Amino acid sequence: MMKDLITGLQTGLHGTLTVPGDKSISHRGIMLGALATGRTVLHNFLTSADCLSTLQAFRDMGVTIDRTGTNVTIDGVGLHGLQAPDHALDMGNSGTTTRLIMGILAGQTGTFRLEGDASLSQRPMHRVSEPLADFGANIMTTAGKLPVTITGTAVHSADVQLAVASAQVKSALIFAALQADGMSVIREKLPTRDHTERMLQAFGADLEVSADHMTIALEGKPTLHGQTVEVPGDMSSAAFFMVAATLVPGSDITLKNVGLNPTRTGLLDLIQQMGGNIDVTARVSGGEPLGDLRVRSAQLHAVDLGAEQVPAIIDELPLVALLAAHAQGTSHVTGAAELRVKETDRIKALATELGKLGIQVDELPDGFFITGQQTAAVRDPQLDSWGDHRIGMMLALAALQVDQPLTLKGADAVGISYPQFFADLAELANKESETSK
Ligand code: S3P
Repeated sequence: MMKDLITGLQTGLHGTLTVPGDKSISHRGIMLGALATGRTVLHNFLTSADCLSTLQAFRDMGVTIDRTGTNVTIDGVGLHGLQAPDHALDMGNSGTTTRLIMGILAGQTGTFRLEGDASLSQRPMHRVSEPLADFGANIMTTAGKLPVTITGTAVHSADVQLAVASAQVKSALIFAALQADGMSVIREKLPTRDHTERMLQAFGADLEVSADHMTIALEGKPTLHGQTVEVPGDMSSAAFFMVAATLVPGSDITLKNVGLNPTRTGLLDLIQQMGGNIDVTARVSGGEPLGDLRVRSAQLHAVDLGAEQVPAIIDELPLVALLAAHAQGTSHVTGAAELRVKETDRIKALATELGKLGIQVDELPDGFFITGQQTAAVRDPQLDSWGDHRIGMMLALAALQVDQPLTLKGADAVGISYPQFFADLAELANKESETSK
């Protein structure tokens, strides 16, 4: 789908917005709900394409799941109760569904085949299958990628060190450990998002996390009890409006009920560090911190960001490029090679697309650098999402301050994580949602 973008916004963004539910927590709610005994109820579930891939996969494995709007009810089948369907499970575009399910299926009964779309089929899966082999898992990849075939087996406990800083890989290993007899230990390279650990504790698992958040000890075969989960707003969706309101002069918006888990707030911290103006009112609900954010426009200065900061800002790094393009001075992002294996090569995609708007991005193997406040002309008004939701949304924000018409190819990719993104942006910009062709 081609979309006309909002450009030349003079009046800033105004109003209050509740962003949709957290993607990571929505996936995990379905998964733990299925593995628990009894009923789990999710409120504010994210009904985006990725989370619906997870929901459908568990239905295909015999789990009864009812959904009315953003309310989901799951009748758990217990730790080993999933059934192998007679067809492949469709992972769609979702890396989280695929990688976490690999850990879950390692200890089930039967043979499961996972397939995905063209983008997902290019992404590395051996980063999951290799450490899962330490638990005795029996997984065949296709040259390290999808399609993947998992033959369930009696997995055993293990002590493993992660080779990549990835919450998806960590969570897959936690799910394998859950199904093994005895105590497993999972050691992280850097702390990554901990929604799996928090939710497992809430469901009754015996799981301990070290003070530095890098070591997880987990006793296998607990009985998980179904829970009611209030899914907070997704920080990674709120991020787009935090950046838009910071950059467009005259803006003043409030974002309600945004998840503030510290493993996810890297962008909030970074905007403050660059001179941004965000007031936070925080509280805790259901084991996850959340709060309201008031964001007003500000003049920014450049920053440097390295490997240690990357996990808490991983999905927001395309937005960091946009912040850097408007800040005074040269910003450097390094230690972010993971960006090259996301839904697309995000370093290449952002350099190419921002380049069309006259913003010079210098690529590094593991990041980029950008000198802000350049005054070059638009070179090509036809932007492209590269089929990547986060690249598409970032470009829609880049357009706001460009004074000529721009189009976005592949705009429908936003449905992967934020189906109503364009409508929400139009509302805060006080514009009609632009026509699509
Ligand atoms: C996710 C973890 C991150 C993130 C992805 C969601 C999760 O991926 O980029 O959007 O829900 O665990 P990695 O763990 O591969 O960095």
